[in-house]
Amino acid sequence: MERSLVLVKPDGVQRALVGEVVSRLERRGLRLVAAKFIQVSKELAETHYGIHKGKPFYDGLIEYIISAPVMAMVWEGPSAIAAIRQTMGATRPTEAAPGSLRHDFALEVGRNLTHASDTPENGASEVALWFKKEELVDWNREVDRWVFEK
Ligand code: RTP
Ligand code: MG
Repeated sequence: MERSLVLVKPDGVQRALVGEVVSRLERRGLRLVAAKFIQVSKELAETHYGIHKGKPFYDGLIEYIISAPVMAMVWEGPSAIAAIRQTMGATRPTEAAPGSLRHDFALEVGRNLTHASDTPENGASEVALWFKKEELVDWNREVDRWVFEK
């Protein structure tokens, strides 16, 4: 079972697309583990996007992610990393597959609505960065055996 951090970024919150993102992940069969609506600090933004430090878009990215609240969530499931990134669509909305969130709701890479972890390892470390252990809910979902093969 893989876990991913998912953020509805400030543009998604401002455009009232939190429900759309949650709905698509729920419909896909992924299981919600944690959620909180927060104003991101500059410090958290810089740690989260540390890998992009020095790139031309870095300063704009930090300003973007702290410009309004975000909906931060943890979702899990088999192959959750690939499944969630497919539901989000490619980073550049004009390259995102039709039917994906970024295709259906975005135009520009700097306003691409969501974040999702890109590997299981980064998923685990991003979840640990954004959430305390006690914020992660261990629960039994009754339909799991109809969604997950094992
Ligand atoms: P994310 O981390 O947000 O899920 O997006 P990603 O994996 O699809 O893309 P990544 O390469 O990790 O880039 C992180 C975010 O930085 C912004 N970006 N802007 N102007 C640009 O060329 C550019 N490239 C990336 C996007 O908001 C991207 O989601
Ligand atoms: Mg990324």
